[in-house]
Amino acid sequence: MEITVVILKPSAVQRGIMGEVISRFERKGIQIVGMKMLKLTDEVLNEHYSHLAEKPFFGRIKASMQACPVVVLALRGLDAVSAVRKLTGVTNGRDALPGTIRGDYCLSVQENIVHASDSPESARAELRRFFADDEVFDYSYHPVPYLYANDEF
Ligand code: CDP
Ligand code: MG
Repeated sequence: MEITVVILKPSAVQRGIMGEVISRFERKGIQIVGMKMLKLTDEVLNEHYSHLAEKPFFGRIKASMQACPVVVLALRGLDAVSAVRKLTGVTNGRDALPGTIRGDYCLSVQENIVHASDSPESARAELRRFFADDEVFDYSYHPVPYLYANDEF
């Protein structure tokens, strides 16, 4: 099983759709193993979005992510990284397919509701970035036999 990281961005917090977005992960059968609200610092964002540091719009992205607290989620499931990226949809909300979170809730590239780890390596780094060991919980999740065949994982 894999753990991936999702951030409910200020656009989700301010628009009052945190619960709806979290529900989508729950309905899919993904287990929430960590969840907390925090304010993103400059230091954390420089690391988290280092691939965008040279872009002219890096300043506005950071300001957008710091507009209010965000909620970080650690989500566990089989191939959770790619499954969650599919639920999230592509970066630009105008291009994201209906049925995806970005496709259903936004029309923006920047104000696109959620962040989701883009590879197992990023997911591992992001889990360390946002969660202490004792903030990620290993607990039995009863639907598992109804979600996967026993030879799928
Ligand atoms: O979030 P995702 O992995 O889909 O895209 P990214 O390329 O890693 O960019 C991170 C975030 O920066 C996006 O989710 C947007 O909020 C923002 N961004 C932007 O505002 N304008 C761009 N041209 C590219 C990214
Ligand atoms: Mg990304």
